[in-house]
Amino acid sequence: MEYQNTQTTAHTNIAFIKYWGKKDAQLNLPCTDSLSLTLDGYFTTTTSKFISDNEDQIWLNGQRAPVGFFKRTQKFLDLCRQLNHCKQKIQIITTNHVPTAAGLASSASGFAALAGSLNKLFQMHLSRAQLSCLARRGSGSAARSIYGGWVWWQQGSSDQTSLAVPIDEHPQLPICLLSVVFNDQPKKISSTQGMERARTTSPFYSCWPHIVANDLSAMKKAIATADLQQIGQIAENNCLAMHALNWSARPAFSYFTDATWKLINLLQQWRQELQLVAYATVDAGPNVKIITQKNQVQQIQARVQHSFPEAQTTILYPGSGIQ
Ligand code: PMV
Repeated sequence: MEYQNTQTTAHTNIAFIKYWGKKDAQLNLPCTDSLSLTLDGYFTTTTSKFISDNEDQIWLNGQRAPVGFFKRTQKFLDLCRQLNHCKQKIQIITTNHVPTAAGLASSASGFAALAGSLNKLFQMHLSRAQLSCLARRGSGSAARSIYGGWVWWQQGSSDQTSLAVPIDEHPQLPICLLSVVFNDQPKKISSTQGMERARTTSPFYSCWPHIVANDLSAMKKAIATADLQQIGQIAENNCLAMHALNWSARPAFSYFTDATWKLINLLQQWRQELQLVAYATVDAGPNVKIITQKNQVQQIQARVQHSFPEAQTTILYPGSGIQ
């Protein structure tokens, strides 16, 4: 297989209805469905080829991959080798195209691009639905980065039935996100560790599947009617409910910092006093993504920079699925 032909690009995504908890850690089967928007600004491009060396070779942004990245990628290579009854070593060359400190997780675009590239290398001829299942094994949220626009990850009950489906790959509504990065240090508690502690120790975890089911059905209606305010409000509510699981875990933990809270409170004030469309969503870290609309994003960006002169901000629009 020609090296160039394995090249695959995938974009990252942000969950508007969060995935937080696994019912099967080995298969990455989630306890609930989730829903995301794929974004344009940040993507990963990966190529792969068979090599005759004794070790896999993994390159990240022009350098040998650090050990953690190497091990996680190699585990995924082992899975694909096993599926294809193959023992040959592989070279992976992967590049993350990140706007300066966008504070976006690279595992979603990373494993979606890797799954797409290995599909070509092994000539597996997987459909996008099957690719979504494969990408999920690398990182849960990667299942959603196979598609563009609004994507619904159906939890399913097995390796073959837990997959993402597109809701609307080319959203027409004028939505955009403003990513606000206070801190780009790696997180202290990984998402896998955080969701496991919340699932097993928060007394509120049993409510989470009901919260997600309600929020998901309301969110689908809001998307269908292009109601941006509702979309933002449901996403913010769902995000705060997810983080409340962490605050109520035993021992409790939090990804929020003072800056996270300060910005969430400011957004509420701007909604009330200035009638701006501006809602927060936060993942496994302190940084905030503001859900807003195209004709207000510059004003919001200026306000955020005024309140947080040190923060790095990036505007992001809906993006496409894997190519
Ligand atoms: O895909 P993971 O294992 O990195 O988990 C992602 C978890 C959240 O980003 C917090 C929520 C989500 O649905 O993306």
